[in-house]
Amino acid sequence: MKFHIMTLFPQIIQAYMNESIMKRAEEKGNISYKAWNIRDYADNKHKKVDDYPYGGGAGMVMTPQPIMSCYNAIIDELQSEPEFEGYKVKPKVIYLSPKGKMFNNDMAISLSKEESLVFLCGHYEGVDQRIIELIIDEEISIGDYVLTGGELPALVLIDSISRHVKGVLGDEESLDEESFTNGLLEYPQYTRPEVFMDKEVPKVLLSGHHKNINTWRKLESVKLTIKRRPDLFDYKSLDEADKKLLTKYNIVDK
Ligand code: ADE
Repeated sequence: MKFHIMTLFPQIIQAYMNESIMKRAEEKGNISYKAWNIRDYADNKHKKVDDYPYGGGAGMVMTPQPIMSCYNAIIDELQSEPEFEGYKVKPKVIYLSPKGKMFNNDMAISLSKEESLVFLCGHYEGVDQRIIELIIDEEISIGDYVLTGGELPALVLIDSISRHVKGVLGDEESLDEESFTNGLLEYPQYTRPEVFMDKEVPKVLLSGHHKNINTWRKLESVKLTIKRRPDLFDYKSLDEADKKLLTKYNIVDK
């Protein structure tokens, strides 16, 4: 997976990508990324990248020319790779914006199957609408709040997409049991010590009895999901064994 990020602040991207699992994934060759500085592509003397909005109003709007030139440079670079000789490359281009479709785990999984992705990070009052019409395939939001720029949202997408790229997570960092994978929030986790400030680890987890542990975890997952995210909980999608379990423990009786 190759990520290309168009931004006015490439160092924000580099700072995050240069640590922890993202760094390891790049070193192993599972992902690669390049942060492109939009300002480098401004064709005016002062490298200006924003201007006043037509029609008036607060703030500044990012001008289309530097973004378009930056995008063309990315396409040229992708196109020059030997594997694409004779093909026209058209990577999916995502604009991070609070007006976009709300990001979720299913979108992360589906985007992880792309060969390469291009992200456009906005600033100020956003980008000229014509850029969105000309190059953007999807406008995506990470939540109902407004950030000062698209860099954090781009990193949120890159991180959650990368976790679904083969090889990025080690064996011990499995995707199977985590929140959203099976439509449920993840059960609570404990590690040593057995007692901490008078609070004990649930006995079942010390029992070594795998069936009982799995049952406990499933019940905790279901209870937490119903309490905190009833919108996620879908009784119909549970298998028969799980439905029986929930009836037995009086969690739901449908
Ligand atoms: N840019 C500013 N706020 C944003 C948000 N909530 N999601 C995506 N991009 C943004």
